[in-house]
Amino acid sequence: MSLTPMGGRPGFSSQDPLSSDKLRQKITTASLRERKLRHEPITCLTAYDYATARLVDDAGIEMILVGDSLAQTILGYDNTLSVTMDEMLHHVKAVRRGVKHALLLADMPYGSYQVDANDALRNATRFVKEGGAEVVKIEGGEKRADLIRRIIDAEIPVAGHIGLTPQSVNVMGGYKVQGKDLSGVEQLMRDAVALDRAGVACIVLEGIPREVAGMITAEVGTPTIGIGAGPECDGQVLVFHDLLNLTFAPPAKFVRHYGDAAGLIAGAVRAFRADVKSLQYPSDEESYHLPRDTKAGLDSVLARKRAMRR
Ligand code: KIV
Repeated sequence: MSLTPMGGRPGFSSQDPLSSDKLRQKITTASLRERKLRHEPITCLTAYDYATARLVDDAGIEMILVGDSLAQTILGYDNTLSVTMDEMLHHVKAVRRGVKHALLLADMPYGSYQVDANDALRNATRFVKEGGAEVVKIEGGEKRADLIRRIIDAEIPVAGHIGLTPQSVNVMGGYKVQGKDLSGVEQLMRDAVALDRAGVACIVLEGIPREVAGMITAEVGTPTIGIGAGPECDGQVLVFHDLLNLTFAPPAKFVRHYGDAAGLIAGAVRAFRADVKSLQYPSDEESYHLPRDTKAGLDSVLARKRAMRR
């Protein structure tokens, strides 16, 4: 455990263009809609822990999603199906403590809403009450509309998620772009309209052709947030670990690496190892020292002991 103080939320550094807290407003579901109307692109990233959440929030990202992608990025599972409510909640709480301005979304994990509507309500409520989430995200279109209405009735905003929905990986037969034929396009349009009518706060469009995402975005009043859905969406979301090359896998077509955290971390870890092995770390300046009078007292005790031994 480091002795470096972690502190609370000191706000923004003066070099930051978004430095004044006063200049930044809390993002709400209403302000997302305003951005759609103003054609102002919305940004969203995933975050799974306190430090990342702080950095993403301080950078001015409008939406932070504690995605069930943490099953893979953080917990090392093969897909998102295994992650549990309790695991998700643990990360939502950590992210909550780091987020001040962004809208905080929590992903409902597989099994937390498919089995029983009452369970779904209970689980959504836990994310809000225990985790501090402001929106819960649910995968699926038309077939989830009634459930989504019930959750919204319980005063919990819901984000929809259609197209390539990772929790359906076994039904889709892999992670495949959806809506490539006419019936697929029609289904996606029906899904989007059903979610819009149900009153969702936004719709994540994942892994669908750009043309279809454009049609949906023009059709619905709610903001669309794309991932692998082209530039016509009202906003874009990326998985934090994709953005930073931390996935240990070849990136999908839509991923752009904005940094190389894997390279940075590997380099720092190797340098630490080399410094310890070669006695370069820690230096005297990096060591704590006895106060002068304690040191003098200790030196005279040691000198007396040495003299007695002679
Ligand atoms: O879990 C997740 O990270 C997501 C995004 C890909 C939208 O659902």
